[in-house]
Amino acid sequence: MDYQKEILKKPIPGHIAIIMDGNGRWAKRKGLFRVSGHEKGTKTVKKIVEAAAEFKVKYLTLFAFSSENWNRPKREVDMLMNLLVTTLKKELKTFKDNKIKLTSIGNIGSLPDKAQKELQYVKDATKENENMCLILALSYGSRYELTCAFRQLADKVKNNDVASKDIDEQMISEHLFTSDHPDVDLLIRTSGEQRISNFLLWQIAYAELYFSQKLWPDFTKQDFSEAIYNYQKRERRFGKTSEQLHEK
Ligand code: IPE
Ligand code: IPE
Ligand code: MG
Repeated sequence: MDYQKEILKKPIPGHIAIIMDGNGRWAKRKGLFRVSGHEKGTKTVKKIVEAAAEFKVKYLTLFAFSSENWNRPKREVDMLMNLLVTTLKKELKTFKDNKIKLTSIGNIGSLPDKAQKELQYVKDATKENENMCLILALSYGSRYELTCAFRQLADKVKNNDVASKDIDEQMISEHLFTSDHPDVDLLIRTSGEQRISNFLLWQIAYAELYFSQKLWPDFTKQDFSEAIYNYQKRERRFGKTSEQLHEK
């Protein structure tokens, strides 16, 4: 089936989030070092970002480095940080050509200075772009994000800026790193793993989950389209019955 053509007939999910997993296994299978898997992974990032912009996805969040990934060998962490800088430099043109605005979520202050500077540079250079918002999750952990939000709210209650009875779901959402973004509609994870790994726990409350067997470096525009096609066939009931959804 030509998924790329099919998906344009129905509404495209407004916010897609991807756990890009499997770079290491891809490299291992080819007898290469893990770094080659990460390098090939950045090529997939470019292809999928371009495809998402073409399909008119409004928000694309990519899990690029988790808070837990700091526990990897220092060599791999350093290499990933360098790759982040070179990829940002290289892909600025892609962002400009496709009118993509780059933003980030996570503990950005924990990244090396060089990465923080490059990230800020690309954010500033793309901030007026309106076709798609590309959100990089860097040094991101959902529990950390929620902890930060709870601390901020606790301070506000202490200072009498907020009454605890007024804290509602909306207010909690507004204190997350993702306050400017809608909730996730479709969450994709590659590499066959079926877990969330501390990613966007609050924001995926009602997301549709899609697990691909493909390793991230092998994931194609066609695979991405198939995930969207699969999403479009589902019925999102949000607690209601199917009959209710079809009532006029
Ligand atoms: C995902 O690929 C990239 C990052 C987590 C940075 P992995 O490096 O986790 O690849 P596997 O899971 O070892 O195959
Ligand atoms: C999740 O992948 C983080 C990213 C894709 C950046 P991991 O490969 O780190 O996840 P776990 O540890 O296997 O769950
Ligand atoms: Mg992994």
